[in-house]
Amino acid sequence: MTDSITIALSKGRILKETLPLLAEAGIEPVDDIDRSRKLVFPTTDPAVRLLVIRATDVPTYVQYGGADLGVTGKDVLMEHGGAGLYEPLDLNIARCKLMTAGPVGQATPEGRVRVATKFVNLARQYYASQGRQADIIKLYGAMELAPILNLADEIVDIVDTGNTLKANGLEPRELITHISTRLVANRASMKMKHRALHPIIEKLGEAVARRQ
Ligand code: ATP
Ligand code: PRP
Ligand code: MG
Repeated sequence: MTDSITIALSKGRILKETLPLLAEAGIEPVDDIDRSRKLVFPTTDPAVRLLVIRATDVPTYVQYGGADLGVTGKDVLMEHGGAGLYEPLDLNIARCKLMTAGPVGQATPEGRVRVATKFVNLARQYYASQGRQADIIKLYGAMELAPILNLADEIVDIVDTGNTLKANGLEPRELITHISTRLVANRASMKMKHRALHPIIEKLGEAVARRQ
């Protein structure tokens, strides 16, 4: 009997770049994901179904075995902590940087720094690693507003072109880490469903390699 495999995909900007990779691995959703209100999609491989969920929920679904595989950003994985997850593949898409940023021309304060971010765990770790005292303020989006409204001295956020920072009078300060999208796998699934998962991971790896 073939094992059934569930893959959790991040909706949003990663999805568009993930689907062609999956197609090269022989996995294509039967329905048009963009035009459907469904959350679970059968695919051209009868043993494989796709979930389309919030990027931040992907590690949780995979950790608890709701999905065998998942696709999400390294930023999301680092913030989650990665418990119960393997990370077999860097899909090398949605590349960006996690950075600190602050108002143009303004120096970071000497003492305690007020930091607004949705990456509270990552930010806490980063400032601690720098030996700097930080008060972390949790936001769910539009972090760029926080320094403008004097809620914070700086932010920790994703930077790609830098256009969003620039448009809001901010500039990048320190690079925390480079980010790309990763394939993650449930630890138990990797053992129990190895025969079904191995070829999927291998074909995805080949699809990634063809793009380098
Ligand atoms: P939500 O929709 O729940 O707010 P999100 O903002 O994390 O989630 P996306 O904007 O789709 O969702 O981002 C998904 C992932 O893509 C991020 O976790 C990050 O790894 C990467 N990413 C985010 N912004 C950019 C960007 N401007 N350029 C390239 N990659 C990005
Ligand atoms: C992301 C991120 C930054 C922006 C960086 O936002 O949170 O705001 O992209 O990209 P840039 O350097 O090229 O401007 P996104 O567009 O995903 O909006 P969101 O706040 O809804 O996540
Ligand atoms: Mg976003």
